[in-house]
Amino acid sequence: MTETSDGILPVILAAGLGARMKSHKPKVLHELCGRPMLAFVLDAAHEMIARKPLVVYSPATAAVTEVFAGRADFALQAEPLGTADAVRAALAVAADGIGEVLVLSGDVPLVQSDLLAELIDMRRARNAAMALVSVHALDPEGLGRVVRSDDGSQVLQIVEQRDATPDELDIDEINAGVYAFDAEWLRRRIGDVKPSPVSGEYYLPALVTFAMQDHRPVVSLEVEDDGTLAGINDRAQLAEAEAELRALINTRHMLAGVTMVDPQRTYVDASVELEPDVVLEPDVILRGSTVIGAGTRIGSGSQIIDTKVGRGCLIWASVLESSEVEDEVQIGPFSHLRPKSSIGRKAKLGNFAEVKGSRLDAGVQQHHFSYIGDAEVGERTNVGAGTITCNYDGSKKHKTKIGKGVFLGSDTMLVAPLELGDGARTGAGSVVTKDVPAGMLALGVPARLRKPRPAVEAAIDSPRETPPAVRPSGQGIDE
Ligand code: UD1
Ligand code: CA
Repeated sequence: MTETSDGILPVILAAGLGARMKSHKPKVLHELCGRPMLAFVLDAAHEMIARKPLVVYSPATAAVTEVFAGRADFALQAEPLGTADAVRAALAVAADGIGEVLVLSGDVPLVQSDLLAELIDMRRARNAAMALVSVHALDPEGLGRVVRSDDGSQVLQIVEQRDATPDELDIDEINAGVYAFDAEWLRRRIGDVKPSPVSGEYYLPALVTFAMQDHRPVVSLEVEDDGTLAGINDRAQLAEAEAELRALINTRHMLAGVTMVDPQRTYVDASVELEPDVVLEPDVILRGSTVIGAGTRIGSGSQIIDTKVGRGCLIWASVLESSEVEDEVQIGPFSHLRPKSSIGRKAKLGNFAEVKGSRLDAGVQQHHFSYIGDAEVGERTNVGAGTITCNYDGSKKHKTKIGKGVFLGSDTMLVAPLELGDGARTGAGSVVTKDVPAGMLALGVPARLRKPRPAVEAAIDSPRETPPAVRPSGQGIDE
């Protein structure tokens, strides 16, 4: 935050149609690494200036007022007639007592707040009517060219590409679309901008000429092209900016102790948190509010959305959504945690395990193509291959409660609502329709209750560490 940011009004232009995006969605709501591009511009303004930014929108981009309600104030530009008209619309609703106006473009999302501070300082130092950021761009295509006096010391004019002469098109210094203005001067002069004879648009950079007339300096903060001032007008530029941002995000994580085997193929949203010694293999996608604990390895092809994963876990080619995973858990390959799943410490979920809206306590094993939905599963329970909680009766979902140390045989159908007590067992292929008390064995279709044989009881105490000496027939695979 600059020392005296109180009198600065940040204005963010977001009323343009964004026609080159060829989209039904307003351009500034298109996402970069999981966040709408306007969110980044709001952040940059907010880091520097305490006052709420004023976002200019039009009927075509009215969705921004919903997405950013509370984070900004809004000014309506009835029709997107050009950037000068957008600033006019902002000033029409701006509060009194504003000394300076910082104008940002909603489609230049990677702008950095320290650059804004520099721009403001520069304007103040020269008491300029207008300060702008100019970039020596490798590719000036489509952008406004900065025309200077012969000795190069003065900015004389900014010419839009479509209005430029061939000589002007050769200029490689471009206008970044980021400005600081003397507010009093801006209020006085903004109404004087006339529409371009070529495009009919009211151009904000036309103000440069008025400053000349008023003998007020126009200063420019010249920077080299580092990708952070790229404007996004079409989807190809959107992808380029995303690559730029991805590189920034990935570098930040790597410097903080995260291993990325191939950072160019690692997709981490801006909002994701990673602890040191996390390892991300290629083609991992981490989205939203995901947090990954120290020492956890995320294998190729995993997609993790809004999920907290603990420390020392191994997640392998799996999809995890809106769930929680405690420490030292192994998941995958090819498992799916659907929303509201919670996996206890040291649990193991294997090939084609699907879990939804369920809690699996510590040490649960669910290795092979099975579905656990709307269930609670007690610690150390073994979910046999092909086990399914039949939680849906065609109209309603029902709950299944499974105790500790339960052994579910292969292909068990658990017809909910259902409760299995601690140490209960089911035989392979059983269709369990009635509750199974603690320690009892359910067998058959529909399942009948029996007392298990003693050898089996030994197995229940520790289903993994001590394999049963004699297994009931058809118990099936458990590794
Ligand atoms: C603009 C500049 C150009 C500069 C480039 C940098 C003008 C005339 N040109 O061109 O010199 O090199 O940015 O990226 O300013 N907007 C409104 N209302 C409108 C029109 C636009 O709010 O009536 C908003 C858009 O939503 C966008 C921003 O202003 O966020 C810039 O508009 P855009 O049409 O993209 O301008 P460029 O052609 O990129
Ligand atoms: Ca633009």
